[in-house]
Amino acid sequence: MPKKYVMANFKMNKTNDEVVDYIDKLSSLTSDCDCQVVLCVPSISIPLAVQKVNEKDRDFIIACQNFNENDFGAFTGEINAEMVAGGGAGAVLIGHSERRNLFKEDDLLVNKKILKALKSGLICIFCLGESLFDKKNNLTEQVIINQLSKGLNSIYANELSHIVIAYEPVWAIGTGIVATEQEISQSICIIRNTLAKLYNEEIANNVTIVYGGSVNDVNCKDISKIKGVDGVLVGGASLIPEKFSKIAKAFCECKKTKNKK
Ligand code: 13P
Repeated sequence: MPKKYVMANFKMNKTNDEVVDYIDKLSSLTSDCDCQVVLCVPSISIPLAVQKVNEKDRDFIIACQNFNENDFGAFTGEINAEMVAGGGAGAVLIGHSERRNLFKEDDLLVNKKILKALKSGLICIFCLGESLFDKKNNLTEQVIINQLSKGLNSIYANELSHIVIAYEPVWAIGTGIVATEQEISQSICIIRNTLAKLYNEEIANNVTIVYGGSVNDVNCKDISKIKGVDGVLVGGASLIPEKFSKIAKAFCECKKTKNKK
């Protein structure tokens, strides 16, 4: 049974000291947890976070939230994929709706970044999802197919094992409105069907797909039961280790087996 991915996106929150303290607490709170924890921390905290995870002897993946698609050069204030990987990060968020909307990142740029991340050995957490406008105008399917196929342009089948797809409907992010089981299932089905067309059925069934958007320590149990959901990407509720650890436990396989007995 592949591990479930339980991922925190701190966004622009937490200082270095707070990140280190968080890992300390989360590590104790999830000592019996077998899911794959991924922490998307502010770039500046990556090396310290990696150091703390190693000190605690945990397999948490420390991830970056963004990088610049260029190799190097006169891009004041930016960091590239090589720097992110060199700092110890194992993954990167690409195509998050906040990057798409606030920083005008389009599908072409998302694709460039996915290619760069893979070249640098980083796992890509490829975010996609429809806006409220899209949802109201019955464009969800079209938007998902479009974002997915453009984002994966020139990506080979064997690289899909380094990509986690995060389905995050924009209207559910930070709103407290979580997508229904039916909405999540339908969108994940669209993603897998599209992957089957772009690659093949086996790849479509094996790609890790997580849900994001107002996941918290209460609704996580129901979300964990939805077929085809391989984990979650959590914003607000990930900031408090006690809450995030409860979410991680909802996706914990060994715990479920123990409970069944
Ligand atoms: P919230 O969990 O705060 O809705 O944020 C989701 C998100 O954007 C994760 O990337």
